[in-house]
Amino acid sequence: MLKLPDIKKIVIAGAGLMGASMAQIFARWGYSVTLYDISAEGIEKGKNLITINQRALLDQNEVSESLSREVVSRISYTMEKDVFGEADFVIEAIVENMKVKLDFWKEASNLASDDAVLTTNTSGLSITEMAAAVRKPERFCGMHWVNPPHIVPLVEVIDGEKTAEETIQIVYDIALSVHKHPVVVHGDPRGFLLNRLQYALLREALYIVEKGYASVKDVDDVMKYGLGMRYACIGPFETVDLGGLDTFFRIGSYLFAELSDAKGVLEPLAELYREGAYGTKTGKGFYDYSNGGAERKIEKRDKDFLKVAKCLYEGL
Ligand SMILES: NC(=O)c1ccc[n+]([C@@H]2O[C@H](COP(=O)([O-])OP(=O)(O)OC[C@H]3O[C@@H](n4cnc5c(N)ncnc54)[C@H](O)[C@@H]3O)[C@@H](O)[C@H]2O)c1
Repeated sequence: MLKLPDIKKIVIAGAGLMGASMAQIFARWGYSVTLYDISAEGIEKGKNLITINQRALLDQNEVSESLSREVVSRISYTMEKDVFGEADFVIEAIVENMKVKLDFWKEASNLASDDAVLTTNTSGLSITEMAAAVRKPERFCGMHWVNPPHIVPLVEVIDGEKTAEETIQIVYDIALSVHKHPVVVHGDPRGFLLNRLQYALLREALYIVEKGYASVKDVDDVMKYGLGMRYACIGPFETVDLGGLDTFFRIGSYLFAELSDAKGVLEPLAELYREGAYGTKTGKGFYDYSNGGAERKIEKRDKDFLKVAKCLYEGL
């Protein structure tokens, strides 16, 4: 298998929201990147996203004009599958559908050299199940990035049943080489770590709204101004240590039983889903994003994230 210094050429499959953003990170840290997509529209979307992201980074003085030009010049685009034969490292960021991913990996892993390292950015599908389509699955693992990956530091590295330890190590090292904060996940749990935690919280947030205990905005405010601020600095276990295990034990003794244990999607989310209100992408979700509201929301999120990311990178 290749070692970190041998990894020069990155191929990212899927030039969408995640792929385009990841491409910029690899290019930012000197790698040569090719974005592969199945459609010309996908490629155009990726190019546009990169232009928008780079403009935002320039506006925020996060990159210089010359670095931004360099980043853009290191990224190329293709719809030709031959590109997988040239890859040292592949990240698959195509649609979240097991059947499509299995078809993709069957072809791509046959085209890729035996030494290439292969990863999927699935949000939580089984790595072991996906690996069944991969030739030489010991070189394959999950590499889960967080949206928007050109800003958020975390990367989850997930092993499947057949993943070799050296694959996990090199993917971990690659994440470090692009200044990300990798965490290794064992046993291939659905949703990995971030989405398990996120969905446990989302279930309770939806339950609170369904019960009428608070509005959507008030739940968001509790997160932003209370828990979220705390969790950007210390995790749940550090919080317990600082608050006192005795107190947390006593609260847990009556509170865990009160929390939602719903097994399906709760109604406040299901109802909007049925209406086709998908959030910023359709102009309406829990909030209204008409009249340019979606663009403003994304711009503000990225600006705020950049400030928080700066603190995290500086060790707070
Ligand atoms: N959006 C998120 O917040 C997020 C976060 C973490 C992980 N992910 C995961 O990343 C992956 C991509 O998500 P996204 O949000 O970037 O999706 P997206 O819809 O923005 O982009 C997907 C791209 O893949 C292309 N594509 C589809 N099938 C393909 C194929 N067979 N070969 C090549 N290209 C193909 C599409 O044309 C599109 O350009 C998914 O697995 C998703 O679960 C998404």
